[in-house]
Amino acid sequence: MNFAAESHVDRSILDSGPFVQTNIVGTQVLLDCCRLHGVPRYVQVSTDEVYGSLGDDGMFTEETPLAPNSPYSASKTAADLLVRAYFHTFGFPAVTTRCSNNYGPYQFPEKLIPLFISNALQNQPLPVYGTGLNVRDWIHVLDHCRGIDAALRRGRAGEVYNFGGNCELTNLDLTYALLEALGKPRSLIKYVADRPGHDHRYAIDATKAKRELEWEPKVLFRQGLKQTVDWYLANQSWVGSIRSGEYRSYYEQQYGRK
Ligand SMILES: NC(=O)c1ccc[n+]([C@@H]2O[C@H](COP(=O)([O-])OP(=O)(O)OC[C@H]3O[C@@H](n4cnc5c(N)ncnc54)[C@H](O)[C@@H]3O)[C@@H](O)[C@H]2O)c1
Repeated sequence: MNFAAESHVDRSILDSGPFVQTNIVGTQVLLDCCRLHGVPRYVQVSTDEVYGSLGDDGMFTEETPLAPNSPYSASKTAADLLVRAYFHTFGFPAVTTRCSNNYGPYQFPEKLIPLFISNALQNQPLPVYGTGLNVRDWIHVLDHCRGIDAALRRGRAGEVYNFGGNCELTNLDLTYALLEALGKPRSLIKYVADRPGHDHRYAIDATKAKRELEWEPKVLFRQGLKQTVDWYLANQSWVGSIRSGEYRSYYEQQYGRK
């Protein structure tokens, strides 16, 4: 199962080089190694971002044309196409999964939910991009992992499976929910310049995963979010150890001037 990636869109906008190296070349190296050693099943952990952006209606299915908009999603798409080519050319037994936005414990503090929890706990501003009306479909990390496990065991080689949380929220509604869970005021919200090329909306149709893998998301968002907030409250030292060093200079570069 290839989880390894450079995964943060904002970092890919600052410098796409490591994304090309890890996400594309890294996948090619793994595919060749696995083929050489006769690995019986390979799972490529991909993302719904390969489909690009939706308007206010519709959902991504596995048939939606690939149309990545960020260097991150472009590199993940290139990796998906290599996986597809290895299946068609060599009969390599690969399955690809495409999931929506994850949340949960141990998420790296640069991602939106842990970033906002940590900032709010320190009464620092929560930097919301643009109008805050971009929509994401949130899924608990354990539901994503159960999906990957199902794809590993029951997925058909050469196929793609979408996973989503049935939980579309604007970034602003998500921020309100976080502030409420933390007992912090909405006045901490600070609107900052939008992310360049910011996708408007992602929404996943996971009918195929339900039909073929008997997979469905189980964690209710309100419960999952409360557990996640509680986890970050109990693990501030873990967060603190990451928010120093290289992370601090990244944060300054990303948000310092906004
Ligand atoms: N987080 C999400 O919302 C989400 C949604 C859909 C898909 N995904 C995919 O799930 C996977 C994991 O995402 P995440 O959110 O845990 O990201 P993450 O950045 O927290 O973790 C990625 C991991 O890959 C490792 N890695 C990076 N470069 C490597 C290299 N060259 N060699 C070996 N290891 C390397 C990192 O050390 C890290 O442990 C990624 O492939 C990502 O594209 C994530």
